[in-house]
Amino acid sequence: MRWAWGAMLLGGCIMSSVPASRPAQADAAPYVWMQYAADGVEARAITTQKACPAAEIDGVDIAMQIRAGAEDKFASTTCALAIPTAVTSVKIGGVALKLPVASPQRIAIVGDTGCRLKGIYIQACNDPQKWPFRQVAASIAAQHPDLIIHVGDYHYRETACPAGDAGCSGSSFGDNWDAWRDDFFDPAAHLLPIAPWVMVRGNHEECARGGRGWSRALEASPYDDFTGCNASSPPFVVKLPLMSLAVIDTAMVPEPTVDERQASVVHAQYAALQTTTTGPVWVLQHRPIWSTGGVVAGLPFGDNKTLALAARDTLPARVDYILSGHHHVFQVLNYADDLPTQIVVGHGGDFLNKGRSADPAGWVINGVTVKAGLHQTGKFGFAMMQHTDAGWTLTNFDQAGTALQRCDLKGRSAVCATE
Ligand SMILES: [Fe+2]
Repeated sequence: MRWAWGAMLLGGCIMSSVPASRPAQADAAPYVWMQYAADGVEARAITTQKACPAAEIDGVDIAMQIRAGAEDKFASTTCALAIPTAVTSVKIGGVALKLPVASPQRIAIVGDTGCRLKGIYIQACNDPQKWPFRQVAASIAAQHPDLIIHVGDYHYRETACPAGDAGCSGSSFGDNWDAWRDDFFDPAAHLLPIAPWVMVRGNHEECARGGRGWSRALEASPYDDFTGCNASSPPFVVKLPLMSLAVIDTAMVPEPTVDERQASVVHAQYAALQTTTTGPVWVLQHRPIWSTGGVVAGLPFGDNKTLALAARDTLPARVDYILSGHHHVFQVLNYADDLPTQIVVGHGGDFLNKGRSADPAGWVINGVTVKAGLHQTGKFGFAMMQHTDAGWTLTNFDQAGTALQRCDLKGRSAVCATE
């Protein structure tokens, strides 16, 4: 275990007393959670021990299967166990996992959670005010959601902390177990078992970046031991009584110009939702479509031209919401055209987008006009969807769990107000 205590006074600044990579649990304890896959839910565990942790379903011992064994850069083993429906208890490594509820009413959304270490972009991973994902995770856990959606970008520690930088000294980096542990699993350790998850792939999880760790640990489809990273994750649908969650991998779909091949792939995936989903649909994809990271010189920037080509006239009319991250803001965009409301929850921990919060009404984004909504920058946090008699309420919380804004959602409509 490495300890890199940051409690020190430097140049008048009191640095955090949190160590760079303090495990939230004992070294031998596995990280355990449950997540939706294409054909049901799986319990998963990551352990640094040789064997998978003990598993128990309804009091009966059962062996977990190795999903990804230890290897060069990953001194850890990912284990998996399919969970049958109608079970009443699941324990992994002695930890009780919260089982799926029949109809989730309270759904947490979080995204873009890791600590940025890339070239000249250096975040103070040791300072919980400057990289607050551990607090964000604790605040989500305190609200006891039925389901947790991570909209992608878990892994941000790509290059070394510069020598002498106390803000990040001791930080791990690279697509390896230490960096994945420090960026996601350890700060989320206490949140992981408290509700089933839906994991969405971000562009930080493409194969050239954190893709190996993604495919080993979090991807819903099977791990390919030969390649070590699936170039794209197949789409899958989680059918729930109130809606279908359609998970789309947009990790490789570029924003500024149309990539015809990627547009064709996603177009087919959107078209397939006509038959693979039932009822209202929430599309879960890391990259938003007609959305912006902010406004420069009066013009919105950052919309996705490739996804716009794939989506226009293709997304089924039953798609009410697109849940994304990627832009490090909290954003709700309700359009003048009959399009799904875009929700962006990208403020979970990484550097926030610059610029001011603004009323997005009247923005024209790649030819699409925003009728109403929210665009908030400058605060870390997460969001919660709560089912009501009238539809859903979407609340934006800061990192401490204080409600900031709320939108009442019904079908594709969204009416938002500051709390
Ligand atoms: Fe992203």
